[in-house]
Amino acid sequence: MQTVIPNGLRVLAAYCGVGGCTRGYQQAGFHVTGVDINPQPRYCGDQFIQGDAVDYIVRHGHEYDLIHAGPPCQHDCTLTAGTNAGRGFQYPDLLEPTRAALELTGRPFVIEQPPGKASKRMRVDATLCGEMFGLQVLRHRNFELGRWSMPKPRHLKHRGRVAGMRHGQWFTGPYFAVYGEGGGKGSVADWQQAMGIDWTDVRKEIAEAVPPAYALHLGVQFLEAVVLSER
Ligand SMILES: C[S@@+](CC[C@H](N)C(=O)[O-])C[C@H]1O[C@@H](n2cnc3c(N)ncnc32)[C@H](O)[C@@H]1O
Repeated sequence: MQTVIPNGLRVLAAYCGVGGCTRGYQQAGFHVTGVDINPQPRYCGDQFIQGDAVDYIVRHGHEYDLIHAGPPCQHDCTLTAGTNAGRGFQYPDLLEPTRAALELTGRPFVIEQPPGKASKRMRVDATLCGEMFGLQVLRHRNFELGRWSMPKPRHLKHRGRVAGMRHGQWFTGPYFAVYGEGGGKGSVADWQQAMGIDWTDVRKEIAEAVPPAYALHLGVQFLEAVVLSER
């Protein structure tokens, strides 16, 4: 789907990774600049800046029409918390510093997190799920919206289970588990198809990404709520 919108609207995708959200905002018609602390040679956006996201938001956030920030969640993500605690990993908690930087810009923003402890420190204005977009992943993501709002989407009943091996038991189902390694998780092609991501074939990059369909939805809702209503 491609929505025709006024030219020149710019999104800053902070913590952009390979650009799952970036691609969705592009599909909604935005020009997207990504910022990430690590090089992202396969980033799909219009412009890439390597650097610290909080620092960039503070300095340049006001230059954008909408800022989307998905600070890394590994320090408490439900998928990794137990495993990482066992390995003694330390991840900085960037949710509050990111929100403070976003507030400073005076611009509309979106904060995105997977379910987990960090989500409990957010006002959850929307939860998106792959089933809402006909994807073969569930991949719930929570969103806090700053300086704009949209109708809360209705969560749809899942059609079955996530396929794969869990706790020594094999499950069949219509959804792929797009994370980690291990048996029965699907091929790279399966993951690309399930997520709607075709510009990288690197498993880790797909596993860290947000399905573009989520950001396409947010982008279209933002246009309807803010930009087009002002005309
Ligand atoms: C889960 S990925 C984000 C996925 C992405 N939001 C998407 O749309 O697909 C988290 C990213 O945050 C980046 N990152 C971690 N700390 C950072 C920091 N301080 N500043 C900028 N990027 C950072 C990591 O390199 C990683 O690419």
